[in-house]
Amino acid sequence: MIAIGCDHGGFELKEHIKKHLDEIGEEYKDYGTYSEESVDYPDCAAPVCRAIQDKTADKGILICGTGIGISIAANKHKGIRAALCSDVYSAKMTKQHNNANIICLGGRVTGRELAFMIVDTWLATEFEGGRHEARIEKIHKIESE
Ligand code: RB5
Repeated sequence: MIAIGCDHGGFELKEHIKKHLDEIGEEYKDYGTYSEESVDYPDCAAPVCRAIQDKTADKGILICGTGIGISIAANKHKGIRAALCSDVYSAKMTKQHNNANIICLGGRVTGRELAFMIVDTWLATEFEGGRHEARIEKIHKIESE
């Protein structure tokens, strides 16, 4: 299950992505925000990160205006590897190499159709493991310091 969330800057793109997920048959839960009224992106990242931490969801999509603030906030949560992507190659590599469990998008940066391709690519790509597993372990070690 995908946990999806956004701030006001990502609201419009989130609604389009939800429609796209419906069309491709991907299950998701919307953790808000639910309008274009101004909110704080760290508050929007937190419920999606918690859903992954408690295994309600196995992955997440977060969107703010640029994707930057919400990715910075998400990456402060233990066990979260949130990748801001604005191209398809990065979306593929961040699953293959970083096993990113959240993909972040900029609602004011990335067009709708490209955003769909980024999400689809990230969903379809498998983590390679091996040497990349050891690198992720090093990140987890930093988290516990
Ligand atoms: C909100 O105006 C904007 O700052 C936010 O959506 C995001 O782009 C922050 O990084």
